[in-house]
Amino acid sequence: MDKPIRIALTKGRLEKDTVGLLEKLGFDCSAVRDKGRKLILPVPDANLEVVLAKANDVITYVEHGVCDMGVVGKDTIMEMKGKFFELVDLGFGRCKFALATKKGYDFYRGFGVKTIATKYPNVSRSFFEKKGMDVDIVKIEGSVELAPLLELADGIVDIVETGTTLKENGLEVIEDVAPISARLIVNTVSLKMRQAEIESLIEKIQANL
Ligand code: PRP
Repeated sequence: MDKPIRIALTKGRLEKDTVGLLEKLGFDCSAVRDKGRKLILPVPDANLEVVLAKANDVITYVEHGVCDMGVVGKDTIMEMKGKFFELVDLGFGRCKFALATKKGYDFYRGFGVKTIATKYPNVSRSFFEKKGMDVDIVKIEGSVELAPLLELADGIVDIVETGTTLKENGLEVIEDVAPISARLIVNTVSLKMRQAEIESLIEKIQANL
């Protein structure tokens, strides 16, 4: 048998949803389910090797070809870009990028340059560039919702899923930026070298979405 196809999964919810999907295809994922602290796990009957990584690292590993495939959110793909094929919208991990402000704040009023806090400076920059609007962007590492409350920013561009975090902090969406869901990405060389195996797995996945 050929060496296993290596697939990097974004640790956490996307990992769990992907394992659920692989089990739906009939593959035994018990090694991944009982992983303990291990980070590389076999799914032997699918000839797969699962690598568990943070979202940005999934892209790095797939780009460098040390993983053939990856499952990562469209949010990370939009922010990092990179050279790989994005082949399947897996449909889970659904949420959106949105522009949000303090409730009732008139963001588009006046001509002063607005400040945007975000974990996603590239996504934010391209959103406002398309509008032809000049903004200052401040990169924040977590709980971006704090920035307007502390008066650091006029608005935030962040991930909104249920909307609860915004609501509980007196913020509201004023514009959707982009829809997000989990995507299956493939290394460009792997797709050529192991085309039959990768395409067969993708067909099975698509038939079970
Ligand atoms: C994301 C996002 C929001 C929250 C939105 O953070 O940055 O804070 O989820 O979810 P909601 O609309 O359902 O309230 P996450 O929980 O991923 O944590 P992070 O700040 O570590 O990215």
